[in-house]
This record gives sequence, C-alpha cells and structure tokens, in this order.
Amino acid sequence: MYGRLSVAAPLPIQTFRVGRGRPRRAARTGREEIVKLKDKVAVVTGGANGIGRAMCERFAAEGARGVVIADLDVDRAEHLAKEINGLAVTTNVAIEDDIINLVNRAIEVYGAIDLFCSNAGIGTPGGADEPNEVWQRIWDVNVMAHVWAARAVLPGMLARGEGYIVATASAAGLLTQIGSAPYSVTKHAAVAFAEWLSITHGEAGIKVSCLCPQGVNTDLLRQSAGGPGEFLRANALEPEDVAGAVVKALEEERFLILPHPEVAEYFRRKATDYDRWLRGMRRLQASFKTESSSAQ
Ligand SMILES: NC(=O)c1ccc[n+]([C@@H]2O[C@H](COP(=O)([O-])OP(=O)(O)OC[C@H]3O[C@@H](n4cnc5c(N)ncnc54)[C@H](O)[C@@H]3O)[C@@H](O)[C@H]2O)c1
Repeated sequence: MYGRLSVAAPLPIQTFRVGRGRPRRAARTGREEIVKLKDKVAVVTGGANGIGRAMCERFAAEGARGVVIADLDVDRAEHLAKEINGLAVTTNVAIEDDIINLVNRAIEVYGAIDLFCSNAGIGTPGGADEPNEVWQRIWDVNVMAHVWAARAVLPGMLARGEGYIVATASAAGLLTQIGSAPYSVTKHAAVAFAEWLSITHGEAGIKVSCLCPQGVNTDLLRQSAGGPGEFLRANALEPEDVAGAVVKALEEERFLILPHPEVAEYFRRKATDYDRWLRGMRRLQASFKTESSSAQ
C-alpha cells in the first residue's frame, strides 16, 4: 500500500576492519543524542510548502526547540511559523548570502543548529537544448544550495563535533527522471555531494542523510501533470509520510532515506546490469512518447 509508510529495517551497527584484524564495532561516542529531535534546533529550506512544510510540522511535534522555515514564499513561511511557533526567514537558496544570513539568524534566535535540512528544489522539463540560464538556475537551487549550506553550517558543527545534515535529492538522483535532463543531473549531483560529506566528515561526528523519494503529492508534482513524470502520481506518497520516513531515518542514522522502498530494488538492478536497466528505461520512455502522440 502506498499510503502506508514502509521503511526498510534498521541497518546493524556498522563494523569495520583495521588492517587485517577482526571486524570491530564502531565506537559509541554519545553523539547519538543528536538524532533525537526533542529540544533541538532544525532549519528546513523550502519549508513553507510540500515536503519541507511536513518536516517542519513533524519536527515541531517531536519537540524541537526551534524550527526555522526558510523559503522564498514569505507569506506561507510566516503563516506556518505562527502555527508551529517557529521562525520564518525569507531565503532564496540560489543566493549564497541568503543562506549565510539564514544560518546567522537561526543561531541568533535559537543558538547552535543541530539539524539542517537542505530541501528546497525545483524541476524543469527538457534536455541539452534547454537554455544555459535554465541549467544554471536549477544547478544553483538543486546543487549549489547544498554546497553553500554545508559551507555555512559545517564549521560550527565540526567545532562541536556533532550535527546532522539532511539533503533532499530524489529517486531521480539514483535512477533518472524521464523527460528532464536538468533534474536528473542536478539530483545525481546532490546525492554525490551528500555521499561525499558523509565520507569526509562522518568520523568527525557529522551525520548525513539523503532523501530520495519518488512521487510525493506536492505542488512540484502537480505542476508536472501531463508530462512524462505523470506516472509518478499513481504511487505518490503524502508529504507527511515522507516526513515520517525522515524522522525514522534520523533515529537510525541511515544515509539513504527511501520513502518508496521499491527504489532500493531499482537502484540494485541498475548497479547489477546497467545496460539492461538502460534498455528498460528506454522502453518506459517510449511508452510516454506513444501515449503523448496518441493523445494529440
Ligand atoms: N514532490 C515530489 O514528487 C518530489 C520527489 C522527489 C524529490 N522531491 C524534492 O523534494 C524537495 C521539495 O519539493 P516539494 O515536492 O515539497 O516541492 P514544493 O514545490 O511543494 O515545495 C518547494 C518549496 O521550496 C520553495 N523554494 C523553491 N525554490 C526556492 C528557492 N530558490 N529558495 C528557497 N525556497 C525555494 C518553494 O517556495 C516551496 O515552498 C525538492 O528538492 C524536490 O526536488 C520532490
């Protein structure tokens, strides 16, 4: 059932090898406390609508001490801030100074940021022919915003030896988005940056998770109605389900958050036989071409 949240079982405690010796358990450091939302400070970009809004509401319900709603949509951000007793900060994540201002403002009002959810994102259809401005805009929002967020929050987190970053990418970042090269490329880059952050700073106490849903019932999905992304609507989850998956993954400190668990199987198939996966995806794409030409 797609309406029901289904999350993979927690991973076992990580073991690793030192030289040729026996595997041993990762040391427990006490930093696990960071994943609990109670009394924590969370910032969510794109927090006024859709998945971001559901995360803000859920974090507040989990007892977060401060929830910062960062969005271009000032009215909705302020409205939500009143509802959950949070803080709205007008932010365009495509501008680095806005992200610096967001982080400074959050710290000024609540103190150190425990959890930064870099969630704002946009979509656009098309391929290589899309104008450079279109590619640049989606690159800034879907990729550079994650880099600028890390640049702004990491120094404080590293100094404290703790902090959690959640990057919203997409299943399109593991697989692809039929009909949109800019979305596919930027979401792959978002996954790559989140992986890199986890590898590079994990041992210093920085936790990273990467959210990769398929369709979610939000304005973003509704705007793609009638396009090749239309098939995602059939299996779409509600934003609240996705927020639930995020909270569960935070508890488990799991890197990959897959609210649609079947994405793990698609990802495995891609890795196991890339050419077969590509043939299957070409068939899927061809079915949309046939549908759209018969509809005309
Ligand atoms: N809805 C889906 O099917 C789906 C699937 C996979 C991944 N995602 C990803 O989830 C994230 C959230 O998307 P959503 O579906 O909730 O979309 P949404 O359109 O409902 O909400 C996005 C929010 O981000 C804000 N925003 C957009 N550009 C911004 C900018 N430059 N600076 C600050 N805020 C900005 C919007 O005002 C809006 O409040 C995106 O990164 C998206 O790519 C969505």
